[in-house]
Amino acid sequence: MELSTRIEAALTEAMQVGQGLHLPVDQVPLRLSSALDLAVMSGGARIRPTILLSVAMACGDDRPGLASASAAALELIHCASLVHDDLPAFDNADTRRGRPSVHRAFGEPVAILAGDSLILLAFEMLARNAAEAPDRAMRQVRILAQRGGMPGGICAGQGWESEPVVNLRAYHRAKTGALFIAATQMGAVAAGQEPEPWEELGARIGEAFQVADDLKDALLPAEVTGKPAGQDAVNGRPNAVAVMGVAGAVRHLKDILGGAIASIPACPGEAQLARLVRAYAERLTPVDLAAQVAAAK
Ligand code: IPE
Ligand code: IPE
Ligand code: MG
Ligand code: MG
Repeated sequence: MELSTRIEAALTEAMQVGQGLHLPVDQVPLRLSSALDLAVMSGGARIRPTILLSVAMACGDDRPGLASASAAALELIHCASLVHDDLPAFDNADTRRGRPSVHRAFGEPVAILAGDSLILLAFEMLARNAAEAPDRAMRQVRILAQRGGMPGGICAGQGWESEPVVNLRAYHRAKTGALFIAATQMGAVAAGQEPEPWEELGARIGEAFQVADDLKDALLPAEVTGKPAGQDAVNGRPNAVAVMGVAGAVRHLKDILGGAIASIPACPGEAQLARLVRAYAERLTPVDLAAQVAAAK
């Protein structure tokens, strides 16, 4: 089965639970249910669950049900983080994935609740699929909680934005790198491997991803990214382009990705995973970005 098919199937199953599709319609708050659909089923790139399943497969994927559920759980946390990130209290963004952001479509109270519901649904999906390998599922719960919260997860990352002085690498690592570390580690754990050796690969891909996102924010128009352009400057966010300039950010991106392949731990599917990481690194790097800038003009 294609990875994307597997991911969409796991997310569809999660949404049936989260939206209460088994219940009579008059027993479910329908605007909140629709908000969950907009937050999750609106065309995300699904990069985090793709990495998670790729690592699980490279490690043997001997508990595929748990791996798929954890891929969905990770993507739900990511989608929740986007809903909250777009709120007026954070980035005040009107669009996401080329569509109205959740609070623009349904109002702030529903958007806050949608983010909260998705976070809880993520853990419910892990719990529902834990019977296959309870010890592995418990380790995944811990990884997902740590990489989503404080002191090193998304909450910490967003928390840096309220500090007077910001350490850019710590900010990037927490707000974005953390979920990529969760991706590599949860994939390894789903297949019965230890998580620690997988941290560096996730951290490198995640940090590079945010530097690339900062470059896109500065260089690409909203029609290409599907979200408002130039937001980091508008919101005064610390970002790689402001700190090191476009050329410096490009160099930094290449440095980080340079070590990614070498950081892949020994595993049965190491060669194939290396090919995937190399292809992904090429997509993130500025040759591709330059082509996107040229095409947008
Ligand atoms: C956006 O992530 C948030 C960042 C960490 C920069 P993605 O670019 O993966 O967003 P979707 O899921 O494809 O919309
Ligand atoms: C990363 O930050 C997103 C989260 C932690 C949710 P950004 O604010 O840079 O992401 P975009 O550009 O809105 O997707
Ligand atoms: Mg933000
Ligand atoms: Mg934002």
